[in-house]
Amino acid sequence: MSVGKAGQVGWRLTGAAVAAIAVACTGLAGGRVAAAAEKDAAPVDFAKQVQPIFKESCVKCHREDPKNPRGPAGGLKLDDKAAILKGGKAGAAIVPGKADESLLVKVLAGDVKVGERDIHAMPKPQRNQAFKALPDEKIAVIKNWIDQGAK
Ligand code: HEC
Repeated sequence: MSVGKAGQVGWRLTGAAVAAIAVACTGLAGGRVAAAAEKDAAPVDFAKQVQPIFKESCVKCHREDPKNPRGPAGGLKLDDKAAILKGGKAGAAIVPGKADESLLVKVLAGDVKVGERDIHAMPKPQRNQAFKALPDEKIAVIKNWIDQGAK
């Protein structure tokens, strides 16, 4: 009986010790862990991080151009946010909150078939040139922006 009690007390102490260690960890190391998590979840700034990627790699084809009566490629303008959210001939290019379901993300990885249409991998290369995908970091920025709601 007394052994049992001692055992119980021992267990309780251990439990308390574990709780104390947990609290200490949250207080001390927790700062670093939180900082790392925050980095992953840091809100993507459209104007500072996303727009420059489109501007550099996409907008020359995806914009209204008086010299090109056919209009923006695929009917999709990528030079302002409202137009990006509106989409193109294939409909919405972005599903806010769902990067993996967004056409704009899919075409960064390779050719995509939408109904009867074949859409090339983007950025579409110049004639006679090979496709060169955007660097992974840029794709990650675009995906994070969409996953965070494309705001
Ligand atoms: C050299 C011109 C060119 C560049 C650069 C380019 N695109 Fe395109 N894009 C096209 C053309 C042309 C189409 C029409 C479909 C096709 O021919 O593949 C298209 C279609 C699309 C579509 C489908 C639109 C729809 O609704 O049918 C998406 C999404 C897209 N591009 C995204 C991008 C992104 C993102 C970039 C930059 C990373 C980019 N494109 C760069 C020419 C270009």
